[in-house]
Amino acid sequence: MNNIFSNINLFTHNILQAVIKSGDHVLDATAGNGHDTLFLAKSVGSQGIVYSFDIQETAIFNTSALLSEHHLLERVRIIHDGHENMVKYISKGLKAVIFNLGYLPKSDHQVKTLPETTVIALGQALDILLPGGLITVTIYSGHESGESEKKAVEEYLKNLDKTKWDVLIWSFLNRIPTAPFLIVIHRRGG
Ligand SMILES: C[S@@+](CC[C@H](N)C(=O)[O-])C[C@H]1O[C@@H](n2cnc3c(N)ncnc32)[C@H](O)[C@@H]1O
Repeated sequence: MNNIFSNINLFTHNILQAVIKSGDHVLDATAGNGHDTLFLAKSVGSQGIVYSFDIQETAIFNTSALLSEHHLLERVRIIHDGHENMVKYISKGLKAVIFNLGYLPKSDHQVKTLPETTVIALGQALDILLPGGLITVTIYSGHESGESEKKAVEEYLKNLDKTKWDVLIWSFLNRIPTAPFLIVIHRRGG
């Protein structure tokens, strides 16, 4: 499933490529195994910066290893902390933010994103997103607390001012209702 219409992560990367330019500052809010961080690191070039957060030791290790293997570690700040604390670490405006919610595959499924902290982090990301920038949120509602996270995120985002933000959903009509889906938030202007 490695074409952009079957694989939601590839689709997300394709959308983000439309806005990320060389030298941009961007954020991976959930580092996991580092695949999204690697994509971002390639996209921002040698003058750009990628912030990459995770609360899990394994994710920090895996992301560091992947970026190191690709010789791109110097443009990435890997931060062992929750994304709900991002404002402590980031001062400059961001062009793109990826939230890939849920738990780390093949790891402890109890360590996962949670509705309350996800909504706090989304609020902070909206505050530091540059005009013309994008936030992507991939939601997996099939796991325990996934449905409440989906509802909390949708409730929060549907109230954003439509004169300032475009909020779009990409989902599969012909898969099970809990199949992952994508929300894209675009800050107007820029
Ligand atoms: C679906 S995985 C991310 C996949 C990853 N983007 C990749 O490319 O491999 C979700 C990750 O979110 C992390 N996570 C859970 N709560 C978090 C929080 N409050 N802040 C940052 N990361 C969190 C988990 O530890 C897990 O590694």
